[in-house]
Amino acid sequence: MEALKIAVIGLRFGMAHIEGAMGCGAEIAAICDCDGENLRFAGERYGIPAEKRFTDYRELLDRRDIDAAVIAVPDQRHRELSCAFLAAGRHVLCEKPMALTREDTRAMIRAADDAGRLLMVGQICRFTPAFEKAKELVENGTLGDLYYLESEYAHDYMKIVDNWRADPLRHGVIGGGCHAVDLLRWLGGDPREVFAYGTKRLLPQVPYDDATVAVMKFDDNTMGKVFVSTGCKRDYTMRTVLYGTKGTLICDNTSPSMTLFTAGPDGMAHEPEIIPVEVNNHNAAREFACFAEAIRGNASAPTDAREGAKTVEVCLSIIESAGTGRPVRPDYSF
Ligand SMILES: NC(=O)c1ccc[n+]([C@@H]2O[C@H](COP(=O)([O-])OP(=O)(O)OC[C@H]3O[C@@H](n4cnc5c(N)ncnc54)[C@H](O)[C@@H]3O)[C@@H](O)[C@H]2O)c1
Repeated sequence: MEALKIAVIGLRFGMAHIEGAMGCGAEIAAICDCDGENLRFAGERYGIPAEKRFTDYRELLDRRDIDAAVIAVPDQRHRELSCAFLAAGRHVLCEKPMALTREDTRAMIRAADDAGRLLMVGQICRFTPAFEKAKELVENGTLGDLYYLESEYAHDYMKIVDNWRADPLRHGVIGGGCHAVDLLRWLGGDPREVFAYGTKRLLPQVPYDDATVAVMKFDDNTMGKVFVSTGCKRDYTMRTVLYGTKGTLICDNTSPSMTLFTAGPDGMAHEPEIIPVEVNNHNAAREFACFAEAIRGNASAPTDAREGAKTVEVCLSIIESAGTGRPVRPDYSF
């Protein structure tokens, strides 16, 4: 099978995508960064020759030697670059969050539909080994019916927030919290209603709350909670707990094991099972493999444009609820 030819635009987190794509046998046909130093660094690091290095993504749109583009530029530019590559007939893997506004997510869905090309959103937690195992335990019935699920995104942004991440539109709930929201949607379905509180204690340099807690209601009265803290004084975690009628699972993308309680013959949970799991919270290779399979038509993309937009919709509903003090029902009509 011929190797997919890929352009990677934005070469900071984008370097993880170069590695992911190379690990899957794709050919890096072009790399692009408007910052010449970042371009040079990535080019030298991955042995990409000068003729394949660009500072303006528009130079790539007409090239016939590119099948797909990976967009890893600041969130505010996701719409512009994704729509440009889609309109040029390329498939796109766009970093999370898909975009920061409803207007942008809808425009990106339209661009993918009009072009008949795949727009996949890089919700990478769906490829985290612990969360893949959690999904398996939900789907094979080990946990029974879920009645409550919670996830948190706690990550100290103190040192990384003095740039485009300080934009009021780039609220912590959508910027990083979208990982926890997407995870709950993947495991529990689409929340019908959310209610949230927020507070601001830790990051003077951002114009939004740096901690938010949201409760949510899914179908069948299943309940959920997401906690987001972007100034927390602790190491990075996405601790996630799933409570089902037959068992309870405690897992994290930063822990080498997960804890599973299941009910014995007497209906009680006794000693938990400790399940070892690989720690890999940026599994770009599996994500890229999934993107490639979807392009080839062998599988559907787990986070296509509408799926990415739903996660943004829930994040925006949480932010809105924390601001108004009212419950919000996400609008999935796109
Ligand atoms: N999946 C994850 O866990 C994860 C982790 C980190 C970042 N991200 C996402 O990846 C994206 C990039 O984040 P980052 O941390 O690398 O940001 P960054 O600011 O560190 O780097 C962005 C890079 O893009 C370049 N760039 C900006 N605008 C450009 C343009 N128009 N054309 C070409 N290059 C451009 C910049 O020069 C810079 O090198 C964001 O969407 C972010 O949310 C995802």
